[in-house]
Amino acid sequence: MSVSQQVFLSDAMRRLNLTRDIFASRIGVKRRELDAWLLSEESRHYRPMPDVVHRFVTEIMENEPLLKKYAEAAQTGPIRDRIAINGKHQLLSVDQFTRESVEDLFRIADLMQPIARRQKVSRVLEGAVLGNLFFEASTRTRVSFGAAFCRLGGSVCDTTGFTFSSMAKGESIYDTSRVLSGYVDALVIRHPDEGSVAEFARATNIPVVNGGDGPGEHPSQALLDLYTILTEFSRLGKLLDGSHIALVGDLKYGRTVHSLIKLLALYRGLKFTLVSPPGLEMPSAIIDQAAKHGHVIEQTNSLQKGLSGADVIYTTRVQKERFQQEELQGYVPQFQVNKSIVDAFCRDDVIIMHPLPRDSREGAHDLSVDLNEDPRLAIFRQTDNGIPVRMAIFAVLMGVESLVQHSLRDVTWFPPTHVGPDDTLLPGIEY
Ligand code: NCD
Repeated sequence: MSVSQQVFLSDAMRRLNLTRDIFASRIGVKRRELDAWLLSEESRHYRPMPDVVHRFVTEIMENEPLLKKYAEAAQTGPIRDRIAINGKHQLLSVDQFTRESVEDLFRIADLMQPIARRQKVSRVLEGAVLGNLFFEASTRTRVSFGAAFCRLGGSVCDTTGFTFSSMAKGESIYDTSRVLSGYVDALVIRHPDEGSVAEFARATNIPVVNGGDGPGEHPSQALLDLYTILTEFSRLGKLLDGSHIALVGDLKYGRTVHSLIKLLALYRGLKFTLVSPPGLEMPSAIIDQAAKHGHVIEQTNSLQKGLSGADVIYTTRVQKERFQQEELQGYVPQFQVNKSIVDAFCRDDVIIMHPLPRDSREGAHDLSVDLNEDPRLAIFRQTDNGIPVRMAIFAVLMGVESLVQHSLRDVTWFPPTHVGPDDTLLPGIEY
């Protein structure tokens, strides 16, 4: 590099007319990482940026139309207006996001981390009530949405299953939604039918969040998954643009992967390998939507082929409860993501994810527990990220995100420094 790293990056930000925050999110790194690159080389905290960042920024600077596009792309206005659907502040699909708005949301999630990690408390949603309506099995999504709302000072009313709701008496989605709108300030809904959460949303003007609609979408899960990938890549000095993502398992009925591939497709030059047992391939409409952004997408039934050289392995459970006439062929012991296959076909900096729950019963060749002690396994860092991301979703939909920073107070109790006995200590991850 003929000029110093500090001059190179400052010049790029000036010509792109971007603040440090926005520039950091555009190149897919955390703000504090960029700050370290921008220090003078004499500073104790200075860090050299990876070559790939230099190449990426140079490519933009040397390409006039791209330079113009980047400089103009800064969007304005509150995020909730930018992601609104049918004029309402609701979250039904990842299709509501652009790369800019998703990264704006993640900056708010970063602000929530001290609350999620039990260092600070906030009461910005004091007085607000959440209706958490789960008509399908759930542990982490239901509890983490509830905990996220409570940690912002709100309260939660829950209902689980059809048996204990008036839907068992034949009540329509419209009536249920309208009645609850008179009782609560926001709704999170999980339902076994695709499109049903959108139907709830049409019958109300309060914020509605899709907590999973059958095999359709699971937008909050995809957001926390993307947030996890960006956080892990930042720690590893890698960029999401140009990386290789392997999605593994039941890609036909797994709603988490349906939302995730569409969200990841907002980035540039990705390679996706879609690895599923025969008959459980990703629906072609979703592949086509992601392919429109110019990514390389390869489908395979071979785990070894699909995992080779991946930067992220995202495994999923076979959704047997949604099967119609599918037979499970090819879902054999050799299809399981375990330590020996990861060691044989992936590098040391791969990250292994799963939306959980993983099926640990006999005959289920879901993600192996033999990776539990392996720092590449990011599943619990991923579940932990569910709280700040869901807090950010509520703060944005309820319009309180700008109040959070100044509302923070120290916690009054003594939480453990590590919440799990096996928490791995990794450089770049603060607890
Ligand atoms: C997923 C779901 O419900 O779609 N779980 C979750 O929300 N984290 C995945 C699954 O059930 O397999």
